[in-house]
Amino acid sequence: MGTTILVILSLVATTTVGQTPKPATLSSPGKVLMYPMTLGQNSHIVNFVRLAKILRSRGYDVHLLFGTDAGSWNELDQTFNVVHRYPSANASDIESLNWSIMSAYQFVTWLADKLERQCEALLSHPDLLVDIQRERYDLLIADFIDNCGRIVSDYLDIPTIIYSAPGFIGDAALFPILPTFIPVSPMSTLESGNMTFAERVENVIEYIATVVLWYPRWFGAFQSLREKYQMNSSLNIRKSFLRTLVLVRGDFVLDYPRPVMPNVVTIEGVFSEDPKPLPHDIATFVDGAGSDGIIVVCFGTMIGQLDKRRSEMYARVLAKFPHRVVWRVTGKRPASLGNNTLAVDWLPQNDLLRHASTRLFVSHCGLSSTMEAAHNAIPVVAMPICTDGFQNALKLTRAGMAFSLDFKTLTEDSLESAIWEVLNDPRYKRNASRVAALLNDTLVPPRDKFLYYVGYVIRHGGVPHWQADVLQTMNIWQLLSFDIAALVLIVIITTLFVAGGILCLGVIAILKYCSEQKPAFKEHAQ
Ligand SMILES: *[C@@H]1O[C@H](CO)[C@@H](O)[C@H](O)[C@H]1NC(C)=O
Ligand SMILES: *[C@@H]1O[C@H](CO)[C@@H](O)[C@H](O)[C@H]1NC(C)=O
Ligand SMILES: *[C@@H]1O[C@H](CO)[C@@H](O)[C@H](O)[C@H]1NC(C)=O
Ligand SMILES: *[C@@H]1O[C@H](CO)[C@@H](O)[C@H](O)[C@H]1NC(C)=O
Ligand SMILES: *[C@@H]1O[C@H](CO)[C@@H](O)[C@H](O)[C@H]1NC(C)=O
Ligand SMILES: *[C@@H]1O[C@H](CO)[C@@H](O)[C@H](O)[C@H]1NC(C)=O
Ligand SMILES: *[C@@H]1O[C@H](CO)[C@@H](O)[C@H](O)[C@H]1NC(C)=O
Repeated sequence: MGTTILVILSLVATTTVGQTPKPATLSSPGKVLMYPMTLGQNSHIVNFVRLAKILRSRGYDVHLLFGTDAGSWNELDQTFNVVHRYPSANASDIESLNWSIMSAYQFVTWLADKLERQCEALLSHPDLLVDIQRERYDLLIADFIDNCGRIVSDYLDIPTIIYSAPGFIGDAALFPILPTFIPVSPMSTLESGNMTFAERVENVIEYIATVVLWYPRWFGAFQSLREKYQMNSSLNIRKSFLRTLVLVRGDFVLDYPRPVMPNVVTIEGVFSEDPKPLPHDIATFVDGAGSDGIIVVCFGTMIGQLDKRRSEMYARVLAKFPHRVVWRVTGKRPASLGNNTLAVDWLPQNDLLRHASTRLFVSHCGLSSTMEAAHNAIPVVAMPICTDGFQNALKLTRAGMAFSLDFKTLTEDSLESAIWEVLNDPRYKRNASRVAALLNDTLVPPRDKFLYYVGYVIRHGGVPHWQADVLQTMNIWQLLSFDIAALVLIVIITTLFVAGGILCLGVIAILKYCSEQKPAFKEHAQ
C-alpha cells in the first residue's frame, strides 16, 4: 500500500501545478527557487512560505521545491506558480516516538535517516533536477538543516541563500565556534559565557565527539548519495555553505554574544504578518475568559500528541486553573480535560499570543515559539523536548521571562507550581516586556532586511567577496592555533633541555675545577 502510494506520488512529482498560472511580470526582479525541509508539517515550511509570500509581494517569481506530504500546505499549489514535488519520507511515526526516554542524539538520528531517504528520492527522480536546472533560477533559498540543499545548491551552481530556521545551530564550518564560551551542542544545557572549568572540559569533549563521531553520520550519508548520483562528488559537503549567504534566524537580544563571519547575517524571527482575527470558536472561548485571561499550550508543529499518561497529567493540571486554556493537541482528547480547556488540532499561535487576554505560554521552545513569545511579551513555562529547545529555554530563562522544567522528570506538582510561579510573579512579565521592546527597536524591519539581502545576492551573483577562505583550507587545529602552541611548546622544551644540558656541563666543569684546586688550597692554608 505504502509503496503504491509512493509510486503514484513519484509519478505526479514533477507535475507543475497551478490551474491559473500567474505570469511573472516583465519587471520581475528575479526568479527564485525555495527549497525548505519538508517532513510532515513543520515550522521550516511555515517560515519558508512566509518568506515566499514576502518575495511575491515584491514581484519576484517564486517557485517551490516541496515534498509530497507537506500536508495542508497543498493550498500552496493555488498560491504559487510552480511547485516541483518529490516524494517525501513517511514521517508519521513521529507520533510514536517516546519523548520520555528518547535522547537528543536518537532524535537527530531519526531526522537524519528521514532526510537521507527523502534526498535519495529527489536525486533518483528522473528529470526533476534537470527540469529545475532548465528554469535558470536567479537564486536558490535552501534550508540549513536539510543537507540535501547542499547537493542541490552545488549542482545548480547558482547564487544561494541558506536560511537557518532554528537559528544558530552548531556548525563549526559556518560560524566559527569557540568552545571556550559557546555551547557546542544545540542540545546542550550549558550556559554561554558562564561555564566553569569542568563545563568547559565537557564542552570541548562534546565538540570533539561532534566532529569525530557525529559529523560522519550527519554528512557522510549525503556525501555517499552525492557520489552515488555523481553530483559534484569532488566537493566537500560539509563546506558547501561557506560560499553562500547564511541568514540565521535570531537576534542578539536573546542569542548569546558570539563572533560570526561576514557571510552570516542574523535576521530576527517573526516577520510580523498582519494580525488576523481568531477563528470563531477560539475567539468565543477566549472572550469568555474574563479578567483571568488565558493560557496557551503548544508543543510545536511536529508534536501534536504526547503519550497517554502525560496528556492526562497535563489535562488534570490545566483543569485546576481559573484561567481558560487553549491547547493544541491532535488525535484522541485526554479524558481528564477540564471544562476550562479548549483542545484544538491547530491554533493560530502568534495571533493568540498577541491577544490582550493571554497571560502565559506553555511551550516546547522551538525557535518560532520562543521568538513569538518574546515579541509579544508573554512569560513562558518552558519544557524543551528536542533539539534546539534546550538552548532556547535557557535564553528565555536568562532573560528572566521564563521558568524552565525538565520534560522527562516533571511531575504533576512541579508543573502546577511552575505555572503558578510565572503567573503570580510580576517580574516575569516585566522582563518579557523589556525583551519585547528591545526586539522591536531595529534599524529596519526584518522584512526589509530580508528583501535587501535577496536583492544583494542576485545583483552580485552571490557573496564570494565575503567568503572566509581560511575556513575552507584550514583545519580546526590550525584555526585554534594548536599547531603554533605545539611549536611554542617544542621550542620551550628544547630550550629548557639545552639550557639544562649547558647548566649541567657547567656545574660538572666547576666541580671538576674545584676538586683539582683543593690540594692547592690545602697548601695555602698551611
Ligand atoms: C506511513 O507509515 C505508517 C506506519 O508507520 C503507515 O500506517 C502509513 O500508511 C504510511 N504512509 C504512507 C504514505 O506510506
Ligand atoms: C556541479 O555539477 C554541475 C553539473 O555537472 C555543474 O553544472 C556545476 O557547475 C557544478 N557545481 C560546482 C560548484 O562545481
Ligand atoms: C552563572 O552560573 C552560576 C551557577 O552555575 C549562577 O549562580 C550565576 O548566577 C550565573 N551567572 C550569570 C551571569 O548568569
Ligand atoms: C515511554 O517510556 C516510559 C519510560 O520507560 C514508559 O513508562 C512509557 O510507558 C513509554 N510510553 C510509551 C507511549 O511507550
Ligand atoms: C466549568 O464547570 C464549573 C463547575 O461545574 C463552572 O462553575 C464553570 O463555569 C465551568 N467553566 C466553563 C468555562 O464552562
Ligand atoms: C528580571 O530581570 C531583572 C533584571 O532586569 C532581574 O533582577 C530579575 O531577577 C529578573 N526576574 C526574574 C524573574 O528572573
Ligand atoms: C515598536 O516600534 C514601533 C515604532 O518603530 C512603535 O510604534 C511600536 O509601538 C513598538 N511596539 C512595541 C510593542 O514596543
